[in-house]
Amino acid sequence: MDRCYSIAIDGPSGAGKSTVAKAAARELNFVYLDTGAIYRTVAWHITMLGIGPKDTDHVPMLLDDCNIAIEFLEDGQHMILNGKDITGEIRTPEIASCASQVAAQPAVREFLLDLQRDLAKTHNIIMDGRDIGTVVLPDASLKIYLTASPEARAKRRYDEYVAKGQETTFAEVLEDQKKRDYDDSHRKIAPLKKAADAVEVDTTEMGLQESVDTVIALIREKLAL
Ligand code: DC
Repeated sequence: MDRCYSIAIDGPSGAGKSTVAKAAARELNFVYLDTGAIYRTVAWHITMLGIGPKDTDHVPMLLDDCNIAIEFLEDGQHMILNGKDITGEIRTPEIASCASQVAAQPAVREFLLDLQRDLAKTHNIIMDGRDIGTVVLPDASLKIYLTASPEARAKRRYDEYVAKGQETTFAEVLEDQKKRDYDDSHRKIAPLKKAADAVEVDTTEMGLQESVDTVIALIREKLAL
């Protein structure tokens, strides 16, 4: 392949990034990379070792023993940490919150940068995250900033947790989300921010299919696919 296409989809939690990116990747035969899952994997690693996400003395040292492999299987992206598949374990509110905090450490972001960039060199890829268009892939073929109102986003996350049988309340999810939005967009390094050249898509009033169709249409138009 001469040049690979890369699509950056950034935005706050619950905007529908992963569902939209996954569906678009399937339709266009691109690889889909959920970068949040990589930060969640680091969060899992330090949690298992009893270290907090704000501990700037120990977290950088623990990265030496954090061997992350990503497998793209039929049922989606699998995260392998030191040989163990932890894909299911990282989908909890606690790990989400820990990931948001540990992601503010420069050493962690630096550690994960090449992993993300290398994948984009060798695959037509759709990546979702917070800083893909601004930091990871500043030359992406297309940048999309996917957003929605805080209430709409919290409702989607709440429904996901309920469907998985996790005990929580809407108020709790909304509160967690507000904190995470604040932390993600106010950290010093690579904060959540719309890239100057990103196209904004607000999904508050859109159903899932409409969001997917809108994003696929933008990609097809930009790449002339
Ligand atoms: O997308 P997610 O909810 O799985 O991400 C979990 C946390 O990881 C999120 O709150 C912030 C962090 N993250 C990040 O800092 N940069 C990314 N590219 C992706 C996620």
